[in-house]
Amino acid sequence: MRDTEEHPIDSLGDWKRTHDCGGLRAEDIGNRALLMGWVNSRRDMGNLIFIDLRDREGITQIVFDPQEDEESHHRARVLRNEWVVAVRGRVSPRLTGQENAKLPTGAVELKVTDLRILNRTETPPFQVDGAVDGSENLRLKYRYLELRRKKVFDNFRRRHQMTALVRDHLNRHGFIEVETPFLTKSTPEGARDYLVPSRVHKGLFYALPQSPQLFKQLLMISGFDRYYQIARCFRDEDLRADRQPEFTQVDIEMSFADEKTVMNIIEELMAELFEKILGITLPLPIPRMEYREAMERFGTDRPDLRFSMEIKDITDLAEVSDFKVFKSAAQSGGVVKAIKIDGGGPVFSRKSLDELSRLVTDWGAKGLAWAKVTEQSWQSSLDKFFSVETKKAVNTRLATAPEDLILFIADQPRIALSVMGMLRLELAARLKLIHKDHYAPVWVTKFPLLEYSEESGGLEAVHHPFTSPLEDDIPLLQDRPEQARARAYDIVLNGSEIGGGSVRIHSLALQQEMFKLLGISKEAADIKFGFFLEALKYGAPPHAGIALGFDRLVAIFSGVDSIREVIAFPKTQSAACPLTDAPSKVEEAQLKELGLCLTKMTVD
Ligand code: AMO
Ligand code: AMP
Repeated sequence: MRDTEEHPIDSLGDWKRTHDCGGLRAEDIGNRALLMGWVNSRRDMGNLIFIDLRDREGITQIVFDPQEDEESHHRARVLRNEWVVAVRGRVSPRLTGQENAKLPTGAVELKVTDLRILNRTETPPFQVDGAVDGSENLRLKYRYLELRRKKVFDNFRRRHQMTALVRDHLNRHGFIEVETPFLTKSTPEGARDYLVPSRVHKGLFYALPQSPQLFKQLLMISGFDRYYQIARCFRDEDLRADRQPEFTQVDIEMSFADEKTVMNIIEELMAELFEKILGITLPLPIPRMEYREAMERFGTDRPDLRFSMEIKDITDLAEVSDFKVFKSAAQSGGVVKAIKIDGGGPVFSRKSLDELSRLVTDWGAKGLAWAKVTEQSWQSSLDKFFSVETKKAVNTRLATAPEDLILFIADQPRIALSVMGMLRLELAARLKLIHKDHYAPVWVTKFPLLEYSEESGGLEAVHHPFTSPLEDDIPLLQDRPEQARARAYDIVLNGSEIGGGSVRIHSLALQQEMFKLLGISKEAADIKFGFFLEALKYGAPPHAGIALGFDRLVAIFSGVDSIREVIAFPKTQSAACPLTDAPSKVEEAQLKELGLCLTKMTVD
């Protein structure tokens, strides 16, 4: 850094900006302007010094010319990248041939008559606006510098616009925005809770909400009718590109409503967001697909419908083949699933097929068989095990043409389908089947109500325990509860679950039965959700709701792969914040005040 005496920092004084750094145009030529911003780059040509001045709106070229002002030119020689300056000058045309068509301000430059140096900088740990990037840890440690990048900032402007549109849309439809507590009791969304120790009640803990689920249901019992909240949720779970420990939901609840009411509101909201943010007309209604169908056709409950490559069942045909692996799978309750890759025969070498085979075994399948369809037959090690008729039947079922590639997996249904689902995505990525500006939303409905959990050895709610079963399936709850379906729906966009909701149970008796099915005793239910069961006694209206994963939605609209790109100060994969160094140790005195004592294991 420069000597302060030699290069004093100027005050803002009475200077006021006339324009931002993205604002000047050819029409402004001849006018005076006052700009402030950061030095994005500088070129010292000796006689002339050129600076690209940057703020969140863009870049303007400014020129220090001794002919214009000797002193400014002299002082400008010390300027370096990321210094903060204010300049006053004359808007001038750029020299012919020097215009920059890529910049909105590219027709002009500002000839500086006065310069104020507002601040200097240490050398930044990475180039703020350059190609050279630091590691993620470094970028998060200096996140405020990364956020100076226009492309990064633009994601936050988009997020802001989306938040404003969501609020405006819901306000117009009679929704009331209500804030619900952060310091609360555990809510059951299936992740671990973040706990907050109470100082006043030593030994007792608040839990940060995994969602506002029970509060929004209480608000329906209060007669609020239509609620929403841009709500922060906290979940201690394994993190991925689309999961953060704290994230934001557009949380909605409606009284006297069913699936259709909720879906309609969301569809209109989505159409508005598509139109105003992306300039795309979203065809309504959004297609609906039952859970079972999604699993069968796409191997996942969040199908990416931007490409087809559907999974087909060929168990019956595999059973009559002589291929032992397939036959025995088919005869022992397993299935054989197949997908076809159009024109994949010549594209996939033996080496790449071996690679795919290794991938699917990593994902839990036992192997991957393949057949390249030819004019006459199959080129495949399976060829000799399949009769001409059976091969033909397989070809017909998959609607193959010569040069197509068929991939087969034999396994238990769950594994065969889920691995095929993953393989489908992998192939689409390798074959570049997905076009950037293609959006394919779908509602997935009628999820199973309950699923068996290996971990607990009992049934667990697939959505959450306040989700209503399908009326037709209520009789199943007695003997075959795992077959009952829920009045739950997810909204999926481009293979990402961007929201989920359900019609709720509003009858106390059914809610109690649900807890019983989940193996939650009356006592345990009273301890955990007693307040809610109590509330259900006092006239709960039928109600339904949904929560959109807002970070995911903004990420998709921004064309970025990770929700971290649209969260100002995100956490790393290990739930740490390199910027603030959270989580961190606390003073012994603080622990004492909370009545806490750390075991050896937790301190280094
Ligand atoms: P659910 O648990 O499905 O439902 O959450 C709703 C949506 O929130 C997003 N989401 C996340 N986004 C980022 N990081 C996370 N860790 C994370 N976890 C979830 C997903 C998901 O679809 N109370 C219910 C909603 C309801 O029934 O009304 C709930 O929270 O996009
Ligand atoms: P093998 O007879 O075990 O050598 O297997 C012959 C081919 O079938 C290999 O390409 C294996 O990867 C494949 N294969 C083995 N098990 C399965 C399975 N369960 N599903 C699909 N293909 C399999």
